[in-house]
Amino acid sequence: MLDRVAEVADLVTVALDELLPRADGPESRLTEAMRYAALGPGKRLRPFFALEASRLFDLEERPVLRAACALECVHAYSLVHDDLPCMDDDDLRRGRPTLHRAYDEATAVLAGDALQTAAFDILLDEDTHDDPAIRCELAARLSLASGARGMAGGQMIDLLGVRDDLGGVARMQRLKTGALFAYAFEIPLILAQAGETPSHALLSFAHDVGLAYQIVDDLLDVEGDPEALGKAAGGKDAALGKTNFVTLLGVDQARTRVAHLADQARSHLEVFGHDAEILRASVDHVLTRSR
Ligand code: IPE
Ligand code: IPE
Ligand code: MG
Ligand code: MG
Ligand code: MG
Repeated sequence: MLDRVAEVADLVTVALDELLPRADGPESRLTEAMRYAALGPGKRLRPFFALEASRLFDLEERPVLRAACALECVHAYSLVHDDLPCMDDDDLRRGRPTLHRAYDEATAVLAGDALQTAAFDILLDEDTHDDPAIRCELAARLSLASGARGMAGGQMIDLLGVRDDLGGVARMQRLKTGALFAYAFEIPLILAQAGETPSHALLSFAHDVGLAYQIVDDLLDVEGDPEALGKAAGGKDAALGKTNFVTLLGVDQARTRVAHLADQARSHLEVFGHDAEILRASVDHVLTRSR
């Protein structure tokens, strides 16, 4: 399973390198910044889930890989903007200076913008799929997962700090992290034009793993080692006045919730039997991470 995670990470980095634009003129500063953000050593978990789930449907790899690269572009853009001084104000990402530190704030804003549009360039290109209706559906779902009713909306709630109950925090997490996580599974579901049963199973799995993933991220913010994580820790979220499962429930109860979500996630895969073995095994790998 670990081999498969590493294999997907390499596949995605090579594919992204080919797909991202290059430029010769002064705008090369922008394309280099986009590359700095997207080609850095991310874990590529969302692409891993997209590719692994696609095995359940016997799909051709190329469309899945291209859509997974589009998702990774939006994810990279979200991190670039998340790190800006007006948001989380972070200096370290993936073990290197954040984009606005390596370049400057204006370049980071533009690189985020252009990574977002690059994602839609990739999805809407004929090389992604012969059927324009499928390409449109891939683009429409990514747009929904990224925008005001998805990641960007969740980031807004996160910054406002306006939720003091668990339901409010769960909603914020579903938008800011869950929506893009779920898109990883929507890719194979759209490409396979899958029916109700597999769709329900995979989207339920995505919901539980996505929520647990963000709780683990919030736990790592308290207990993680910045060296291993490659980003800030030491209770930075609480210092910024953020509310999340860890600030509301405390470390022990947050950990119990992660374990419960992990069990629930695995149970959603039962309909796939042995075919989902790697996905099932990936739950612990993803949730017991140190980076
Ligand atoms: C970080 O995502 C932001 C969250 C939603 C928790 P990842 O932990 O997937 O970051 P990378 O891509 O591996 O750097
Ligand atoms: C997730 O939250 C960020 C995005 C949805 C972009 P965090 O702000 O906790 O992510 P990290 O900890 O900076 O990676
Ligand atoms: Mg944030
Ligand atoms: Mg952050
Ligand atoms: Mg965090």
